[in-house]
Amino acid sequence: MKLIVCGKGGCGKSTVAVLLSRAFARMGRRVLLVDADESNLGLHRLAGTAPAATLLETLGGRNALRSRAASQLGESCNLFYDQPFSLDSIPAACTPAVDGVRLLKIGKIQHYGEGCACPMGGILRPLLANLQTDAADRVVVDTAAGVEHFGRGVDRHADTIVGIIDPSFESFKLAKKLMDLAEGSGTPVAFILNKADDRMRAGLGSFIDPAAIIGEIPMRDELFAAGLEGRPIRFQAPEVDHLCRRLEAMA
Ligand SMILES: Nc1ncnc2c1ncn2[C@@H]1O[C@H](COP(=O)(O)OP(=O)(O)OP(=O)(O)O)[C@@H](O)[C@H]1O
Ligand SMILES: [Mg+2]
Repeated sequence: MKLIVCGKGGCGKSTVAVLLSRAFARMGRRVLLVDADESNLGLHRLAGTAPAATLLETLGGRNALRSRAASQLGESCNLFYDQPFSLDSIPAACTPAVDGVRLLKIGKIQHYGEGCACPMGGILRPLLANLQTDAADRVVVDTAAGVEHFGRGVDRHADTIVGIIDPSFESFKLAKKLMDLAEGSGTPVAFILNKADDRMRAGLGSFIDPAAIIGEIPMRDELFAAGLEGRPIRFQAPEVDHLCRRLEAMA
């Protein structure tokens, strides 16, 4: 099962991606958490994995990828994702693991003037398209804020788009847009209300079909503190396990 987590900037995508990944791992699933955000640097801290090279670096960098010259590509790493592959084919060097969750960072913008983030998108799309998952595999993709991945045509290769909505009008509006964009990809959407409370539920009104909302995560001090201090999320809660079960039922 492949999930792509998206939503407005700061709505809680990374937090929820880690929560879902860790809960799937506790359920005995084989989990790959994919960091597809080319800007933010902290997912490995929230996940609690060791810092590791990105896949783009492991492949030899954007120039190697551009030329696709075998001589330039990283030694341990041909373009495995250009044809059908399994989780076992992803180089261990760029997938540090903790508590049953492997984290794969696609690539980060590192230097001034290095170019746009298209090479990262150019990896993510075939990677998701060609990854052959077993029944127990759970791939959770944490995306950058906004809707660029729709423009890149990534979402059609996921089983479910997981839209995170936080208590803000902007988030409600984006969720509606996400629904429209998802129609283009033909991928079902499941929404999670994050930092949810009564005021949010009232404000959400008729923006989103309630049937598309699979659950809620309230404001939690422990999650706030993990974000503030850049430390691993160890939080467990029945509402997160419930979300995992709903997502599995959808797939
Ligand atoms: N349920 C929650 N309770 C308390 N704090 C939360 C909750 N969810 C997220 N946060 C906090 O909200 C902030 C944004 O969360 P997070 O970084 O996960 O959002 P994001 O959507 O991934 O952001 P970005 O768009 O920058 O990638 C962080 O400080 C995080 O700790
Ligand atoms: Mg994030």
